[in-house]
Amino acid sequence: MAIRTILTKGDPVLNKKCHPVTKFDEKLAALLDDLKETLTKANGAGLAAPQVGILRRAVIVVNDNGDMIELVNPEILSQEGEQNGLEGCLSLPGYWGYVTRPERVRVKAQDRTGSWFEVDGEGMTARCFCHELDHLDGHLYSELAGQLYTAEELEQMEQDREDSK
Ligand code: NI
Repeated sequence: MAIRTILTKGDPVLNKKCHPVTKFDEKLAALLDDLKETLTKANGAGLAAPQVGILRRAVIVVNDNGDMIELVNPEILSQEGEQNGLEGCLSLPGYWGYVTRPERVRVKAQDRTGSWFEVDGEGMTARCFCHELDHLDGHLYSELAGQLYTAEELEQMEQDREDSK
């Protein structure tokens, strides 16, 4: 296993559409292991293969229980409801923005051996599924968020809300 370098906004790789995974081999297993290790080190909620420069449809999502789910060739089967909340990305360090996402999603994906499975996500997990799947089509959340904020700006906004009470 190895920690890989996370690409940041401005790198053209992040805007490319990823290819489906067709080989469920040791190379894929190594990529998934590296994504997990890199994600753990970065203390994030999800990581997609293009963020480490690999244009393949593979992502890791951390669910509500803190478990890391490996999704290969994932697709959203259905979605329900709506939520608006703060989102960040390891490829845009130091910034957050408000994005509207479905409240619940059902995703179909393959595991590292190629077996298909379905998984449901709600709240933050649903948000994370959508965010990571967008990476596979070359999209960053900043395209959906109106404005991006720094931690200081968010703190100031929180303070202003408190003061106006
Ligand atoms: Ni991201």
